[in-house]
This record gives sequence, C-alpha cells and structure tokens, in this order.
Amino acid sequence: MNENEIITTENRYLANVFSKKPVVFTHGKGALLWDINGKEYVDCGSSYGVAALGHCHSRIVEAIRAQAEQLITLHSCYYNDKRAEFIEKLVKITPKGLDKAFLSNSGAESVECAMKLVRKATGKTEIIALMGGYHGKTMGAVSATWDKKYREPFMPLVPDIKHVSPENPAKLSEAISEKTAAVIMEPIRGEGGIRMLPDGYLQEAREICNRKGVLLIFDEVQSSFGRTGKNFACQNWDVTPDIMCLAKPFAGGLPIGITVAREDLMSAFKMGEHTTTFSGSPMVCAAGCAAIDTLVEEKLADKAASNGRYFKTQLEELAQKHRMIKEIRGLGLMLGMELRLDVHGILLKTLKKGVLVVDAGRTVVRILPPLVITKPQIDRAITALDEVLGEEANERASSTVPN
Ligand SMILES: Cc1ncc(COP(=O)(O)O)c(C=O)c1O
Repeated sequence: MNENEIITTENRYLANVFSKKPVVFTHGKGALLWDINGKEYVDCGSSYGVAALGHCHSRIVEAIRAQAEQLITLHSCYYNDKRAEFIEKLVKITPKGLDKAFLSNSGAESVECAMKLVRKATGKTEIIALMGGYHGKTMGAVSATWDKKYREPFMPLVPDIKHVSPENPAKLSEAISEKTAAVIMEPIRGEGGIRMLPDGYLQEAREICNRKGVLLIFDEVQSSFGRTGKNFACQNWDVTPDIMCLAKPFAGGLPIGITVAREDLMSAFKMGEHTTTFSGSPMVCAAGCAAIDTLVEEKLADKAASNGRYFKTQLEELAQKHRMIKEIRGLGLMLGMELRLDVHGILLKTLKKGVLVVDAGRTVVRILPPLVITKPQIDRAITALDEVLGEEANERASSTVPN
C-alpha cells in the first residue's frame, strides 16, 4: 500500500477515536522514527511514554526474537520460566513491601485491578481521586479520571468515586469518609497537563491515609520506569503507596499492565476472582526481563535525570524568548510546556519540522522522549519548537496588523 492507501484504509476500517496525524511511520531506532518517504523524525513522545528504551532497542529485539522461537503464549494456570524471571526482576526494583503483582495488558487494566482489589481488601466501595487526574478509559478507570469529556458520555459510571482538588491535603482529609476504601493519584499528573502536586502533598497524603486507615494507590503508568529520574516517581519524595499501577514501557513496547501491591492486600483476591487470558505471556515477560535489565544496567533513571535537566533548561530559555509560553513544568524526562494557545496546530507544525511531541490537554505540549535520547537530538527538538513558536507569533502578528 502507498501512503494514501494506508491512511484511507485505517480511516475506513478503524474506529474513529484517535486524533490522527497525517504521517505513516514505518521504522524506528532509538529516539528516531522514519516515515514511509524516508524522512527522519526525533520522537519526543515515545508513543505516550511507551518507548522509554527507544525504538527497537537491540536487547528487546533479541529477547523477542529468542522467545518467539521458544514459546509465545501460555496461560497463567501453567508455570513459565520467563514469567518467573520477570516477576523476580520486577519486585527487586519496586519500593519495599510492594512485592505481589497481577499482570495484565494495559494501564487501564492495571487501574481496574487496583480498584477491585481495594474493594475486596477493605469491604468498602468509595475511592477518592484527584481533579486533573487520568487513569484510563475502561469503565472503572474512566470513573476515576477527571476530565468530563471522557466521563460524561458514559454515565452512569462506577459509583462512589469522588474527586478532590489537590491544592491542599486538607481537602483530601475532609473528603475521606467511613465508606472510603482508597485514594488514587498520579505522583505527577501526566495527561492532566504535567502538573506537579504541591510540595509535601504526597507525604501528607500518605500520613492522612495511614491515620484514617485508607489505602493509597499511586498510578505510575506514565511516571515510572526511570522517567522522572528515579525508577518510580514516588521515590523522588520517599513515599511508598500500598498499591502501584504500572504499564506503558515495562515490556519494551509490548502491551503490559502491572498492579503491584503489599502481599497482605493482594491475597484478598481469591481463586479466579480477577484473571485475564493474556496475563504474563512468555513473550511479554521475555521482553519485560530485557526492559528491566536495560533500565537497571544502563542506569536509565540517571540518564533521564541529566537529559531532563538539559531539556528543561533549554525549554526555559525558549520561555524567555516566546511570550506564548506560559510555563515549563515537570521532572526528568516528563516535561510540559504550557502555552497561551491551543497546542493542536503547534503539534502539527512541529511534526512537519521532523519532531514528535504530544499534547496533555488543550494547552500543554507534553514531552516524554525515550530515556536514551541524546543531547544533539534534544537540540533538534528545541530548534523545531523555537522555529514553530517564532513562526506562530509572526503569523498572529501579521494577521492582527490593521491595514
Ligand atoms: C497515569 C495513567 N494511568 C492510566 C493510563 C491508561 O493506560 P492505557 O492507555 O494503557 O490503558 C494512562 C495512559 O496514558 C496514564 O497516563
């Protein structure tokens, strides 16, 4: 198929739910992608954080190739060498005490599992989430997601989910009731605009939950795997939740969801109460082993911290120059540039200049590059953003000049 046929076919036969960009990518390596015409792009979106190791990392390619010749699929009712290896590697890096996991296939599924688990472990139904939070689009996860445009078309949702403003931990404390099973939050809200919580918020949330006997869930689907300079974002503040939701990069780009919890909590699930056919397939686990080995051995969290500092400094310099930048936010390589305008057009223009960035709400450009991005590649991204913002300012100025 040629470029036009590919675009027409996807548009014709796939549900029209993704805001498609007019480009067909065919291959990638590290932080680079190439389109069907051979044009090269710097990927600063990593497919919304999945390609943290970069595209086609040799260790992932090799692990998938080798496992494909051994065993691709095996239901979790049978034991498997790669699954055991993967889970051991995972619990070696998770915060202390979080050492019992359920494997699934996506971020939303990891949240569904957490939501069911807290009901089972506490016998209570209420969950408190944060305004601006995002937890996915399955029925439970979307009920905890804040943005009305994702929730309202699907009412009635899962009941007993309240949202509180994160501006002040007192609001969280006031919202907790006799019925509350758990509080769920992202340590840094990603989809909600790369928004940090106020200083001390996570620590206070932990204390409040301890005091009130309520479970604390961190949704680290986007913020984990070294992206913020630590393997898990919560480690930046030395706070450990009772349950953590993981997904995106943990299998080197293959679909995975992981809900990891304290053993006493996970044991609340009885035989058969929460399962899924693809849980812990050998292929995904083999890729997951290679992904975790690479994260640890290549010290990618440290790399994200230093690359992130460099990227953020460059963005802050752009903010000095372009009035339409309102704020630069984020930690490590989880960065956001809030603009005083809708970012949709900016994303398309940046793409044309050979750089992929993604959105986070209407006004925030989200930057989630592979952790292996190089400084020259960061410079290319900055140059493209600089040019696009400059051109946008000129266009706006010329369209408002009176004749
Ligand atoms: C924090 C967070 N939780 C959950 C999800 C949902 O993950 P998925 O799209 O894999 O279902 C996402 C996806 O972006 C996310 O960022």
